[in-house]
Amino acid sequence: MASQQAQSVQPTGAAILHRAQQDIARDIDDLLERQLVVPHDPRRRLYDAMRHAALAGGKRLRPLLVRASADLYGVDPRHALHVGAAVEAIHVYSLIHDDMPCMDDDDMRRGRPTVHRAFDEATAVLAGDSLHALAFEWLVDSETHPDASVRIELVRALAVASGPEGMAGGQMMDLEAEKGGFTLPIVTNLQELKTGALIRFSAEAGGILAGISAADRAPLVQYARNIGLAFQIADDILDIEGDEALAGKALHKDAAAGKETFVTLMGLEPARAEAHRLVDHAIAQLNEFGEEATLLRALAHYVVERDH
Ligand code: IPE
Ligand code: IPE
Ligand code: MG
Ligand code: MG
Ligand code: MG
Repeated sequence: MASQQAQSVQPTGAAILHRAQQDIARDIDDLLERQLVVPHDPRRRLYDAMRHAALAGGKRLRPLLVRASADLYGVDPRHALHVGAAVEAIHVYSLIHDDMPCMDDDDMRRGRPTVHRAFDEATAVLAGDSLHALAFEWLVDSETHPDASVRIELVRALAVASGPEGMAGGQMMDLEAEKGGFTLPIVTNLQELKTGALIRFSAEAGGILAGISAADRAPLVQYARNIGLAFQIADDILDIEGDEALAGKALHKDAAAGKETFVTLMGLEPARAEAHRLVDHAIAQLNEFGEEATLLRALAHYVVERDH
């Protein structure tokens, strides 16, 4: 019975995921096109740089997570899309700065030259700063949600996920990791901040939009924690085994930098097994939900099965 169910659910989940990925890519592109209209004045270069980074593909995983968590509660997809655009703007800003010479010094991102290579470093700093600010401007817009208290909760959650208790804190730890001496618990904490925090925000956002209390969002938070770590283990494995053309960015950077990762600390095959265990844990958090969680379940599989 269980295996029959698994056989009949699996293709449906994959098909739903494929369709949802196409839809979110189109919807996010449309919204960002409208939000990033190039002005006819000397700021043109700044907008061109933001568009170069933000309208260049990418998996759009975080907006998709917002949409999937919103689907659990029947939230208006337009509200979820605005939140998705905001978290994607923070993500893109973090990538622009991450690629700069003072951080990872990378030339390619999403199959294109990085912003500081296509433009210059000052423009890259300002494009990142601008996307960071725009994310919060979009969240406080009434189109994100009619209830101002919901918007405030989203702003607070995204601010925490982006700052020293989130992505920026994780990026600092990541730079310190190059000095060596990091243990598995420290690397786990680093990754929970660096990539986990924005993933957690995205998964919780559907609950926040639906007015679900923080206590009742616990399954979503645990789901996100598990897929966030699985996502990072997959990133570490792809850094070793991935295809640069598919990735659209330079690989083999972690070993070159002498960084401790899940793979260096656990070994390749144990790390792969741990990623699959984390996916199972993530999916188990969704037991209280039915078909409305199909997309979240499919996304959990995708984070470790992806090839880029
Ligand atoms: C890349 O994130 C940086 C990490 C957090 C590991 P993604 O793998 O989600 O990159 P895009 O958005 O698809 O380009
Ligand atoms: C970047 O991590 C994470 C953030 C920008 C927050 P990495 O430096 O590992 O990402 P890639 O490998 O350049 O995409
Ligand atoms: Mg980095
Ligand atoms: Mg990098
Ligand atoms: Mg990486």
